[in-house]
Amino acid sequence: MKNNKNNNCSLSCKLYEYAKSRIPGGTQLLSKRPEMFLPGLWPAYFSKAKGCECWDLDDRHYYDMTTNGIGACLLGFADSDVSEAVIKRVQDGSMCTLNPPEEVELTDMLCEIHPWASQVRFTRTGGETGAVAVRIARATTKRSIVAVCGYHGWQDWYIAANLGDNDSLDGHLLPGLNPAGVPRELKGTTVTFKYNDKQQFEEIVRKYGDNLAAVIMEPARYKDPESGFLEFVRDKAHQCGALLIFDEITIGWRLVLGGSHLKFGVNPDIAIFAKALGNGHPIGAVIGTKEAMQGAHTSFISSTYWTESVGPAAAIATLNKMKKISVPAHIGNVGHKLMQAWQKTGEKYNLKIETGNCYPALAHFKFCHNQSNELKTLFTQLMLEKGFLAGTVVYPTMAHNEKIISLYEQALDDVFHKTATVVSENRISESLLGPAAHTGFARLTN
Ligand SMILES: Cc1ncc(COP(=O)(O)O)c(C=O)c1O
Repeated sequence: MKNNKNNNCSLSCKLYEYAKSRIPGGTQLLSKRPEMFLPGLWPAYFSKAKGCECWDLDDRHYYDMTTNGIGACLLGFADSDVSEAVIKRVQDGSMCTLNPPEEVELTDMLCEIHPWASQVRFTRTGGETGAVAVRIARATTKRSIVAVCGYHGWQDWYIAANLGDNDSLDGHLLPGLNPAGVPRELKGTTVTFKYNDKQQFEEIVRKYGDNLAAVIMEPARYKDPESGFLEFVRDKAHQCGALLIFDEITIGWRLVLGGSHLKFGVNPDIAIFAKALGNGHPIGAVIGTKEAMQGAHTSFISSTYWTESVGPAAAIATLNKMKKISVPAHIGNVGHKLMQAWQKTGEKYNLKIETGNCYPALAHFKFCHNQSNELKTLFTQLMLEKGFLAGTVVYPTMAHNEKIISLYEQALDDVFHKTATVVSENRISESLLGPAAHTGFARLTN
């Protein structure tokens, strides 16, 4: 592997190098590993974050033109209304032997936004939320097998899909998820199907229908489903007695106020939320019909920190704010401008890029080149020099305004120009100061 040519390692980089020897995997989330962006040079740690700006340990300032907290902060980092509610709750005591009343208020709010649902259970992280939903569905139906489409977290029930054929989950966001440590006895309990592939889904129902507990899927990730696909999955699932779970953890709140399924007009039996629900504070929700949630009465599903009050207080403040302002309209507009800028600037310098007509709310582009990952890494390197955390994906937030978009566009012009020159001179690899970014899960140290 190529060594970094830049010896001027910052405090953040040095701390991360040390962390890798003490924290297996370096960080707690694959998507926050510096190796996923710019190995050896990415400022791994932040000291302060506000809006869509942050500061690293050397007090260097950046505009976040990546995922803004991996999609957790739609209102922007440290939103003042959410922070105020959280600070009040902390000052009044965030934990007690008694329960937080906020969870009842939040239940009503979520069911008001999603009138098909009447009951809610809470967790604190996305992966847990999926695990609870699947447990409830298995308990309700008294069946075992789960069909999945999309990414749903790190737990055994999900990674079990890779036990038979190590790459079953590769088409579902994160490639290379190793099932090491997942009991091999779970093999065959989770099966995958591709988005918009009716035939593959029908085959699953034909093969496992008698024992299918649930179908869990992201109703959309980057584009609307093909006409009739969600209805098809819902009807086939119901015909064989399985429950339909929509995972709204990433797409929720971005297209409409609530789950994206409200836009598509297809109601599931259960839907799950996390990430943006607390705008940076841990909270997850499993919402469902009374019938689907029956399993939650009989299965033991219980955890101490699901009873603290910061999570629900943050979610109530987040939803109250989201009800007053149109988040989908703003972030759609920002994403649209960025996609136009990528297209226009790419054309200007004859740099081939593609946006794939994705949702502007989860805007992304790719370099059409056989060294696309190295080009992406070079793009990150050059944008970082200009004070932007940037890659080929931007999850816009309420904090991205005209001024910041315009600064980004100026930087983009120069960086695409340089990138195009490097491509035309065939100097991509030698222009990188370190190794290329990782593209999926990989071991970091021995
Ligand atoms: C659709 C979806 N489900 C579940 C998860 C897991 O959430 P968490 O990382 O909070 O465990 C994610 C995370 O990216 C996600 O995008």
